[in-house]
Amino acid sequence: MKHSNKALVTGSTRGIGASIAKILAQNGYDVILHGRDEKKLIETKEKIGAIDYFCADLTCRGACEALATGVLDKYGSLDVLVNNAGAYVWANVEKTEDKDIEKLLKLNTEAPFRLIRAFVPSMKAQKFGRIVNIGSISGAVGEGNAALYSMTKSALSGLTKALALELACDGITVNTINPGWVDTELTETACNSGDGFSADENIDMIPQRRFIHPDEVGNLVKYLVSDEAKGLTGQNINLCAGLSVG
Ligand SMILES: NC(=O)c1ccc[n+]([C@@H]2O[C@H](COP(=O)([O-])OP(=O)(O)OC[C@H]3O[C@@H](n4cnc5c(N)ncnc54)[C@H](OP(=O)(O)O)[C@@H]3O)[C@@H](O)[C@H]2O)c1
Repeated sequence: MKHSNKALVTGSTRGIGASIAKILAQNGYDVILHGRDEKKLIETKEKIGAIDYFCADLTCRGACEALATGVLDKYGSLDVLVNNAGAYVWANVEKTEDKDIEKLLKLNTEAPFRLIRAFVPSMKAQKFGRIVNIGSISGAVGEGNAALYSMTKSALSGLTKALALELACDGITVNTINPGWVDTELTETACNSGDGFSADENIDMIPQRRFIHPDEVGNLVKYLVSDEAKGLTGQNINLCAGLSVG
């Protein structure tokens, strides 16, 4: 059966998700946007030529399942799922607050699992699917004073490997991209918070002395979801300007 090109990108109102959505749309995908901010969703839909958007706070009970049902009821199936929505918290372990533990576990870890669980049956039925999770270099190598964030992102590595095995004979690939610092609002907020390192201090620690551009993540997603990448599954790919090398 020939599959279509419907792609859902979570957290695509700005930053990395918006770049992924833009690049997929430019390459012929029917892109479905997602976020919490309806005004930004409408603006982004117009700007990049996405076909639709869904509004949902993925930390709310039942939100992932409702999002998947909404997409499947309207479009019948999904070919590409990009689990990008996520949040960052910089805090040492003893100062990490309960509300952040709950939020990051729900958004960064549980939501990707729940969305994958909801979309896999339709991908299996069409014998095609591409799942890409946006992890973080913090999950791959550990980030001091960001143990909670690192934990929620490293969980995606196990999920990716296990699912790649489970879905290997169903035409479904599962991969995770671990970006280093990317030039987005999240990075700007983290660098300007006064708690952690400034942008210049972070850049000094990166071998290439630069932040990743969001389009670099978008272009890697474009490759991972293509037919050419059908043999690439279960991989956790560090896209970090050398940060993970040492
Ligand atoms: N920036 C970096 O340096 C960096 C590095 C490594 C990994 N990452 C990861 O890459 C992903 C995107 O990061 P970014 O820098 O582009 O972040 P960003 O600029 O803060 O954008 C985050 C996106 O996620 C959505 N989102 C946030 N909370 C949500 C919630 N509770 N429910 C639903 N959607 C929510 C936001 O949409 P609304 O606000 O409209 O809801 C927005 O579209 C995240 O998973 C992040 O952990 C980023």
